[in-house]
Amino acid sequence: MIIRIDGIDETNKFGEKLGSLLQKGDIICLNGDLGAGKTTLSKAIGKGLLVEDYITSPTFTLINEYKGRLPLYHFDVYRLENGEELFDLGIEDYFYGDGVCLIEWAENIQDELPRDRLELWIFRGEADNKRVIEIKAFGNRYDSLVGELKR
Ligand SMILES: Nc1ncnc2c1ncn2[C@@H]1O[C@H](COP(=O)(O)OP(=O)(O)O)[C@@H](O)[C@H]1O
Ligand SMILES: [Mg+2]
Repeated sequence: MIIRIDGIDETNKFGEKLGSLLQKGDIICLNGDLGAGKTTLSKAIGKGLLVEDYITSPTFTLINEYKGRLPLYHFDVYRLENGEELFDLGIEDYFYGDGVCLIEWAENIQDELPRDRLELWIFRGEADNKRVIEIKAFGNRYDSLVGELKR
């Protein structure tokens, strides 16, 4: 599924909708270059999950936790040398826990990710505020999530 976004308002609308549909255990992978809009989209997903705290980029902290309708675990694995470090952090407790995992730069830890997941690939469009988001679903849960997103 491909979504064409024209302006931040549309990014916010899409993110909030996605956030409102998320369930316990969901894994959402965000990929795209620096400045593509991964953190911007994360804020909107957080809003859709009814997170009240201000969501900031976890680039230096690797992971931030928020309380919302479900716990939100917001990762940025840009600086990670290899996936091993994640296991030291107990990442599987997050993946298979009570909340939702949002992972910026997920492509860096491709081999460590659970097989079932939603991948969002964000590309810049032909103008400054335009974006193209490619959505890939792996597994039944995410097929049906994409079905709900289309509605
Ligand atoms: N439609 C859009 N969606 C998301 N971000 C946009 C959009 N148009 C412009 N931007 C800008 O692009 C930048 C995206 O930055 P950020 O979300 O931090 O990216 P990343 O986390 O991928 O590095 C922000 O400055 C944001 O204001
Ligand atoms: Mg970011």
